[in-house]
Amino acid sequence: MQAIDPIIADAERAFGACATLAELEQAKSRFLGKAGALTELLKGLGRLSAEERPKAGAAINEAKGRVEALLQARREAILAAELDQRLASESVDVTLPGRRQSDGGLHPISLAQERIERLFASMGFSVADGPEIENDFYNFTALRMFPDHPSRSMQDTFYVADSDKVLRTHTSPVQIRHMQSHTPPIRIICPGRVYRVDHDATHSPMFHQIEGLWVDEGISLADLKGTIAQFCSAFFERDDVEIRFRPSYFPFVEPGVEIDMVWERKDGEVKYLEVGGAGVVHPDVLRNGHIDPERYSGFAFGMGLDRLAMLKYGVNDLRLFFENDLKFLRQFR
Ligand code: DAH
Repeated sequence: MQAIDPIIADAERAFGACATLAELEQAKSRFLGKAGALTELLKGLGRLSAEERPKAGAAINEAKGRVEALLQARREAILAAELDQRLASESVDVTLPGRRQSDGGLHPISLAQERIERLFASMGFSVADGPEIENDFYNFTALRMFPDHPSRSMQDTFYVADSDKVLRTHTSPVQIRHMQSHTPPIRIICPGRVYRVDHDATHSPMFHQIEGLWVDEGISLADLKGTIAQFCSAFFERDDVEIRFRPSYFPFVEPGVEIDMVWERKDGEVKYLEVGGAGVVHPDVLRNGHIDPERYSGFAFGMGLDRLAMLKYGVNDLRLFFENDLKFLRQFR
């Protein structure tokens, strides 16, 4: 019979060389498997004499027990080593700064809007609101943009199928709604979202406007100019902001103007920046708002809120406002 002790020594060496449980399983089969060394010894028992057999059998069984114990010890050692390695690699670096919940902040458009509302409030204006899904009458017809009028095609929008509803193309319909439900004196601004079929670096299908309306006895273009000039220098915190009115056409005002802001840049160059449209409210528009144009007059304006925010904060691409990139937004916290 093959000597037993060398087999045990052999097993101890083989198990010791295994680094993983899979390797250990392979090594185990060499000793305890079907064709393993100890198994072969058991098979050889039959060839022994009756008196040798019990002693040899007991010795082989004892050897089997020792090999199994070696195997188990190695298995535990491998598991312990794996655990140690995991603990080492997953260790906590207590010197790292903690992960705090980051602070939120208002979106730059909201910041600009709040600022504008405060400034106009200081001039006696209150904030009015109106629906973003408007009907054709308020968005167009009541403002004298009749169905076949070419000014309609400049404000292509999103239509609600099989209805007269549109996503409002401007905040001007709030003028009509507000006049219908209030009596002069009326002094409101209406900030809000508007929609048009437009998309590039300076146009977005959704953008923001601020509408203004002041109706009372004896209101004129001079009041408009004073109000806008005061607003612009307060908003931009500059004394050198000048306002230029350029004649323009909007069906709901007469006369109508485009408001340009004259701005002397730091390098001395003088720039004209268009900030909105305005004018003296057309008598028919007052009538549509149930207001007597013989007694009252008023001015209205519509400014681009995103435009004002871009100028105020030095943002050169409108799309940045709507991409919601935190790197951009965090600068305004
Ligand atoms: N609603 C116009 C637009 O979106 C802007 C505008 C022009 C508003 C003149 C006014 C105004 O109130 O008087 O293009």
